[in-house]
Amino acid sequence: MNNWRISAAVMLGALGFAGLFLSSCSTVNRAVIAPPEIEGATFVGNKVCADCHTNITRVFAASPHGRYYKEDLEWAKMSGCESCHGPGSKHVQVGGGRGRFIVNPGKDPQSCYQCHLEVHAEFNLPSHHPVTEFRMNCVQCHDPHGHDIMKPSGGLAMARLNESCAQCHREQAKPVVFEHEALREGCTTCHQPHGSINRKMLIQADNNLCLKCHAQVQSGAGQVVIGKSDHTTRIRGRTCWTAGCHPSVHGSNISPHLHY
Ligand code: HEC
Ligand code: HEC
Ligand code: HEC
Ligand code: HEC
Ligand code: HEC
Ligand code: HEC
Ligand code: HEC
Repeated sequence: MNNWRISAAVMLGALGFAGLFLSSCSTVNRAVIAPPEIEGATFVGNKVCADCHTNITRVFAASPHGRYYKEDLEWAKMSGCESCHGPGSKHVQVGGGRGRFIVNPGKDPQSCYQCHLEVHAEFNLPSHHPVTEFRMNCVQCHDPHGHDIMKPSGGLAMARLNESCAQCHREQAKPVVFEHEALREGCTTCHQPHGSINRKMLIQADNNLCLKCHAQVQSGAGQVVIGKSDHTTRIRGRTCWTAGCHPSVHGSNISPHLHY
């Protein structure tokens, strides 16, 4: 999670840099981001789009992309509507319309990778959501226009995050008799949603995944205690969830110890 913040900050830095050098050195800008091209069209800025796309423009202002935008033609290329949809002058001249001089990126992740290079790298890791295979796309999880980066929007951040995953993974997010409290901190406590080097997109491949919350205590006689019970002979070799002990990490209807 920290890495993400840092890379976003680095990217912001890069964009700022591009902005600074835009007039004197356009190649720098193009190396960082190249908005889609539309022959003969020029950039017009978000205000012009608002005339016809009121609903989108209204919510866009509070989105992560929109927050970065300033009403200025140079910024239009970097974080405005046109950074994803291409320069809009011709679309506007003809009175708008589908397929009329404007790019609809649709489900194509390529339009996002342009700026989110680090996300592209994450989707190339061994275990990942099948975006690279075109069986899934960014906008199934993210709203490109809205104030909430996750779909569906509304509600508390963590609940919403789990709900977003539950759209497709009902089994892991369904209510159970014996909840695992870890899920209250969100699915991303244990999973990296874009991709990971570990199987099942796990943040860690070994018992540290669990031990970061369940302190492991060494008692006097060389015993290893986790929770209230002696785990000395239990945690050798395999993981807490594959050793046959706590396979129901997402919660259980039968076992308070997540045994079944
Ligand atoms: C004069 C009105 C008008 C203006 C101004 C306008 N549009 Fe549109 N646009 C439309 C209409 C009408 C459609 C057809 C779909 C609809 O009704 O939402 C459309 C469709 C689109 C589509 C979907 C295209 C497709 O092929 O699916 C995009 C993307 C779009 N506009 C972006 C923009 C952007 C970005 C701006 C500002 C640069 C803008 N529009 C300005 C009227 C306009
Ligand atoms: C971060 C990239 C990005 C930005 C910035 C962005 N859009 Fe979009 N827009 C998309 C994507 C991706 C889609 C296609 C979504 C889909 O198919 O689910 C889309 C779809 C649309 C559509 C078509 C909706 C439909 O009914 O098919 C319109 C109209 C539109 N955007 C207008 C705008 C306007 C106006 C702005 C600025 C206020 C804007 N967009 C900013 C990425 C962006
Ligand atoms: C023109 C460059 C550009 C494009 C294209 C672009 N983004 Fe972004 N994106 C940004 C910037 C700049 C930010 C703000 C970074 C920040 O606030 O930390 C951002 C932020 C985000 C965030 C929120 C990050 C956070 O930490 O809150 C998400 C999610 C996101 N973008 C998804 C997408 C998706 C999905 C697409 C494709 C539909 C896309 N982006 C296309 C530049 C871009
Ligand atoms: C399976 C759902 C899912 C898919 C598919 C997905 N994301 Fe994400 N993404 C998330 C979640 C969850 C977060 C973390 C949100 C949080 O911490 O609140 C996130 C965070 C982000 C962020 C901010 C943090 C970072 O990593 O920089 C960006 C940018 C982003 N996603 C872009 C994308 C792009 C671009 C795509 C498509 C190539 C994509 N995402 C596909 C679920 C998804
Ligand atoms: C739009 C549907 C969709 C959403 C939303 C979604 N996933 Fe997935 N998820 C998939 C698909 C498709 C697969 C791949 C299944 C396959 O390959 O058979 C998958 C696989 C997984 C896997 C197993 C990977 C493996 O190696 O077996 C995990 C873990 C996972 N998703 C977690 C999440 C989390 C956490 C979220 C929320 C941030 C989420 N998913 C949101 C569709 C989705
Ligand atoms: C406490 C850590 C933890 C949390 C929180 C967590 N998971 Fe998992 N998840 C795991 C582990 C460990 C596995 C691997 C199980 C295995 O190897 O069979 C897994 C596997 C999965 C799988 C693959 C299932 C399969 O049979 O291959 C999916 C899908 C999944 N989780 C979705 C989610 C979703 C959705 C959430 C949030 C509602 C979530 N997980 C929260 C630890 C967690
Ligand atoms: C984000 C913190 C967190 C993570 C990560 C986490 N747990 Fe938990 N877990 C809790 C909390 C909180 C409880 C409820 C309080 C307690 O019993 O310690 C709990 C309860 C449990 C219980 C029931 C305790 C009992 O009475 O038997 C088991 C079993 C368990 N966790 C196993 C795991 C396993 C296995 C993993 C790794 C896949 C894991 N936990 C990861 C926070 C976490």
